[in-house]
Formats: sequence, structure tokens, C-alpha cells
Amino acid sequence: MALTTAARRPPLREVAGIPLPATTVDNWHQIQGFEAQPDDLLICTFPKSGTTWIQEIVDMIEQSGDVEKCQREAIQHRHPLLERARPPQPSGVEKARAVPPPRVRRTHLPTQLLPPSCWENNCKLLYVARNAKDCMVSYYHFQRMNQTLPSPGTWEQYFETFISGKVGWGSWFEHVIGWWEMRDRCQILFLFYEDIKRDPKQEIQKVMQFMGKNLDEVVLDRIVQETTFEKMKANPMTNRSTAPKAILDQSISPFMRKGTVGDWKNHFTVAQNERFDEIYRQKTEGTSINFRTEL
Ligand code: A3P
Repeated sequence: MALTTAARRPPLREVAGIPLPATTVDNWHQIQGFEAQPDDLLICTFPKSGTTWIQEIVDMIEQSGDVEKCQREAIQHRHPLLERARPPQPSGVEKARAVPPPRVRRTHLPTQLLPPSCWENNCKLLYVARNAKDCMVSYYHFQRMNQTLPSPGTWEQYFETFISGKVGWGSWFEHVIGWWEMRDRCQILFLFYEDIKRDPKQEIQKVMQFMGKNLDEVVLDRIVQETTFEKMKANPMTNRSTAPKAILDQSISPFMRKGTVGDWKNHFTVAQNERFDEIYRQKTEGTSINFRTEL
């Protein structure tokens, strides 16, 4: 029997005002009880900010640039999403418990919803932020093709949904500013998608140092080459082609879509851009965070 759209694309539910997948909300008690260890590394992002890219960079560093080892498993399984819950499959927390620390995991949770042990046990937190305009465009296309998330509607409708913080994992503004404000208080490396795009080697070196690794120039250069958008788009272990079409329908929009800075210019109308800039100014007033929206 064919699933109805509502069954395939269930509405989001909320935890403390943050919209999340319903199955994640159902599993909330277990997620909050996750026991982070001091050597764990948690990759933290607002959705569509370059999570997959930084995952591949982290894995290449961990495997000392060994391309073969990074082919062992599809990227989404190498570092499962901590808050993922899709019964009857094991949850993200169950998967983490099944392997000894130090573990590398990923999460989209905002600071206030992170399991308390991540702060208490001082695990390493690697945050990647992407400018809101490109993030919005990327998320729009992702919701078109991801059959487990609510349909985005038209671009005009999605623009409103995004700025009102009604997308999965909530307001981009609160997420990014929340993590930015925490960056000096814990073991947080805060990176920008646009910086990785502009000078990948420099940013990869920062990640390497944060991970306590020391790789030579040849290996570093290999990691830069292997983690370009073009390479990752062609790589079945990073391009999500292993995910079933019933979940990610890449005939609608590819997971590795454009990988650029400034694609927002192809989507935002002049009026939307002016309105967005004003909202951005208000919401970021008083913070020192600074984004590039073009290179
Ligand atoms: P676009 O939709 O703008 O192309 P996430 O992994 O957090 O879901 O983010 C996905 C976004 O990161 C997509 O953006 C994707 O193309 C981009 N991306 C993935 N790998 C990349 C790479 N190696 N270089 C640049 N962008 C990359």
C-alpha cells in the first residue's frame, strides 16, 4: 500500500520550542541520557552547513589521509547522527553506546538541547557555521528531496518558514549565535563553511590540531584534494547515493547540489534580500559573529 504524504513526511514536533523529527522527540529521554566521554568528538552544525564535508575532513585526518580506509562505509554511517531515531533501527545513542570511546558523532542540536554530559565531560565540539542565505537555499532543496521531512512548499513559503525558525532544529539565528557565545567556554573549534571554501588547507590544519594529530604536508595536500566538492560528489561513500530513493530522492535535487558560496543570489528576490538583511541586523545585534555571503 502506498504511503500517504503525511505518513512519509510526518510533521515536526517540538522540544522546548525547537522543531525536531517526531521520532527524535519520542526518544528524547534516551538522547538526553547520552554519556559523552572526554575524548569523544562531536561535529555540530545547523542542517545544511557543510556537515558531510567536515565529516569527511575529520575522517581523513583520523585515518591519516588513507583514502581506502575512508571508503569503509557511507559517510552517514561513519558518524551517525546522535539524535537520530528511526525504529526499529538502532538509535544514534544506541549506536554510540555500542562502540568504545573515543567516538566521532554528529549532531544538529542547539546548545540548550545538547545532552548535559557533553558539557560536563568536556568532550571536543567542532562547530561549522554557514551563512544563513546559502543555508536557507540548501535546506529548501534538501526538504524538496528528503521524503522524511515536511514538504517545503514554494520558495516564498519556505523563506517565511525559515526566518520564523519553524524548520527542523529551529532558528538558524539562535543556533549559530548560541554556539558562537559558547566558543570560549568549552573545547569548541568554531569554523565557517566560507573559510573552508576559501582556504581549505588552513582550516583543515586547524581541525588537525584540534584533533591532536600531526600530519605532514603531503598528507594535508591529499586531504585537500580528496575533500573538494567535485571529488565528494563523485564518491558514492560521500554523495549519499547509497540512501534509498524513498528517503532521499536525488532525482528531485542531488545531495551534493552546488557546494558554493553565494547561490542565494539565484533565489532571493531584491525584496526578500532587503527584508532578510534587516531581520539579520536585528537578530545579530550585540554579537561579534561575522559571515561572508560571497567570496
Ligand atoms: P548546497 O546545497 O548549497 O550545494 P550538510 O552536509 O550539512 O547537509 O550540507 C550540505 C551542503 O554542503 C550542500 O550545499 C552540499 O553541496 C555542501 N557540500 C558538501 N560537501 C561539500 C564540499 N566538499 N565542498 C563544498 N560544499 C560541500
